[in-house]
Amino acid sequence: MRTYGCQMNEHDSERIAGLLEMDGLEQTESFDDADVIVLNTCCIRENADNKLYGQLGNLKKLKEERPDLQIAVGGCLAQKDRDGIRERAPHVDVVFGTHNVGRATDLLGHARVSGPITEIIEESESFPSALPVKRDAHHAAWVTIQIGCDNSCAFCIVPSVRGKEISRPYSELIGEVEQLAMAGVTEITLLGQNVNSYGRDLTLKLRGTQVSAESSELVGEAWVRGPHTARPLFSDLLCSVAEVSGIRRVRYTSPHPKDLRPETIDAMAQVPEVCEHLHLPLQSGSDDVLSAMHRGYTADRYIEKVDAARRQIPDLALSTDIIVGFPGETDVDFERTLEVAAEVRFDNAYTFVYSPRPGTEAAELVQRFVPAKISAERMERLRRVIERTSLKGNESRIGHDEEVIVEGQSKRDSEMLTGRTRHNRLVHFPAQEKIRPGSYAQVRVTEARTFNLVGELLEVTAAAKHRTRIPVVSS
Ligand code: SAH
Ligand code: SF4
Ligand code: F3S
Repeated sequence: MRTYGCQMNEHDSERIAGLLEMDGLEQTESFDDADVIVLNTCCIRENADNKLYGQLGNLKKLKEERPDLQIAVGGCLAQKDRDGIRERAPHVDVVFGTHNVGRATDLLGHARVSGPITEIIEESESFPSALPVKRDAHHAAWVTIQIGCDNSCAFCIVPSVRGKEISRPYSELIGEVEQLAMAGVTEITLLGQNVNSYGRDLTLKLRGTQVSAESSELVGEAWVRGPHTARPLFSDLLCSVAEVSGIRRVRYTSPHPKDLRPETIDAMAQVPEVCEHLHLPLQSGSDDVLSAMHRGYTADRYIEKVDAARRQIPDLALSTDIIVGFPGETDVDFERTLEVAAEVRFDNAYTFVYSPRPGTEAAELVQRFVPAKISAERMERLRRVIERTSLKGNESRIGHDEEVIVEGQSKRDSEMLTGRTRHNRLVHFPAQEKIRPGSYAQVRVTEARTFNLVGELLEVTAAAKHRTRIPVVSS
C-alpha cells in the first residue's frame, strides 16, 4: 500500500489494508515482494497528480516481468481522473474511487477473472469505519465523523472528489470510540474536511419532526434534550467522546474558522481530555484574497476567534494551513499574510504554493496567476516568519513538565525515544529503560528546536494498554 494525501486517505488505507488482510494477504514494504499493489491517491495539488503518474510509470516494468501482479489505484485522483488512469497507464488492473473503498478486494477478485476494471460511484453514505481495519499504531486511532465537504473554496478540488457533506450518526460514532477504547486505544482524532460543522445535516433532517429514541441515536442525548436548533453538535460530540472510559486524549482536524463556535472552545477549555491544540486553516491574511477564495471570514474575524480561544485556553497551541500565490495575490496581500501570521504566532504551519486544479473556480483565473518565481520568494519569506514563531513557541516550553505519549525509538538516534505532547509537539528524550509505544510519561523539557523539543524522562505514568498479538508463523 502506498498512501498519498491527508488523514482521510490514511484512514481509508487502514480500511483497505484491513480488507486485504481478511482476503488472506499480508503487508509487505517492498513492491518486489508484492502480489497486489494499492496506490491510494491524492489530487489536492498538481505535484500529487504527477507523483502518481511517475509511480505508475515505474511500476510498468514490474508488471511486464510479473503479469500476475495486480495494481489498483484508489483515492481522490482515481475519483477525478477515472478512465483517464487506465488510458495513461493501461497496466493498472483496478481503479476505484473514494465512495467504494469497501469494494477494493471484490474488484481485485473480479479483475483476476475478467480483466481490468474501473468502478467509480458518485456518492454513497458509506463511512470507512464500517470496514475492517489494520492500524499501524495501537494506542491512537482516527474516527471519521463526516465525509465530504459542502464548502466551495475557490482553489479546492476536495468537494468534487469527496462529495457532499454527510455526518455519521452520533451513537454509531460513540459506539466505535467505545470499541476502540476497549482495544486499548487512548487517543482519538476526529476526522472530517470540516469537522466543526458536524451534525448540520443531521439536525436539518430532524427539524419539525417529533423527537424520538431514533433522534438521539442520530444526534445524541444533549441535542435531543436541548432547544432542537440546527446548531452544530460538534461540541457535544467532543464531550461524549471524552467521556468514554479509557480515552485520555481527544483531537480533531480540520475545523473551518467560519464555523468555529464558542461552544467548541468551551468544550476544549472545560473537558480535560480534549487537547489544547487547534489546527485552524487561515489560507491568507488578506481580506481581498480570503473573499476571492470564498472562505467566509476576514483576517480580523480570524484573529478575534484565536484571541477568544486563547483567553479561555491560555496554553493553546495553534497550527494552520496557508496558501501562497493565490491568483491575483499582490505584494500588499502577501504582506498582510506575513503580518497576520506574525501576530497570531503560529506554532506550526503547512504552507503551499497555489496549484491550479482543473474544474475549480480559481483555475479559470489564468490572467491573474502569480509567477512561480514570485510565489517561491513569498514562500521563503513566510517560512522564515513561521519558523521564528514556531521556535519561540517551543522555547516557551523549556522548564515545563509535559505529558507525552511515547511513540517509539527516535529515527535519528536509537538511544532516544520520541513522544508527543498534548500540544502535538514532538519531544526526544533519552531512556535507559524500554517503554512500550502508547505508554504515557512525564518529560521535563530542557531544550527547544524549531521543529521539536528535547527533554528528560521524569516517570512513566501509564503503561500502554493494548495487547500485542504475536504473529503465528506457519511452517
Ligand atoms: N478541509 C480542510 C483542508 C483540506 S486540503 C480545510 O478546509 O481546512 C488541505 C490544505 O491544502 C488546505 O487547507 C489548503 O491550504 C491546501 N490546498 C488545497 N487546495 C490547494 C490548491 N489548489 N493549491 C495549494 N494548496 C491547496
Ligand atoms: Fe476544500 Fe474548503 Fe472544503 Fe476545506 S473547506 S475541503 S479547503 S472546499
Ligand atoms: Fe488529497 Fe483527497 Fe485528502 S485530494 S488532501 S487525499 S481529501
